[in-house]
Amino acid sequence: MTQETPFRHDEIFVGFGPIDELHREFQMLLDRLIDCEDADYGQHLLELHEHLLRHCGAEEDWMRQERYTGYMKHKQEHEKLLESLSEVRRRFDAGDLESVQAFSSDLLPWFAVHAQTMDAPLAEFLKGN
Ligand SMILES: [Fe+2]
Repeated sequence: MTQETPFRHDEIFVGFGPIDELHREFQMLLDRLIDCEDADYGQHLLELHEHLLRHCGAEEDWMRQERYTGYMKHKQEHEKLLESLSEVRRRFDAGDLESVQAFSSDLLPWFAVHAQTMDAPLAEFLKGN
């Protein structure tokens, strides 16, 4: 299944190496999830979940270390994302493949907005330090 969205590629990159590296990895794992066979959804969801825990954790560590004032708001968005991923994994375990498909096709547009409104200002802040 190929997804065409106006958010593909460049809008998730913010011009700061360590964040862009996480975003590249995220994109690769999301592409794998979108393109996979039904039988592989569980494994790819798990890999995406593990990645996002590490990805969000790394950004939160940088924000805390640098006493970034936007920390709480940014962390709340991460928490909502991780909660919705936990929920979609529960639904998958209950046999609901449509929820996985809906989640995976909505995730890149969501992530593009997050990258532009949360990660890009953080990247600018971190580059200035
Ligand atoms: Fe973020």
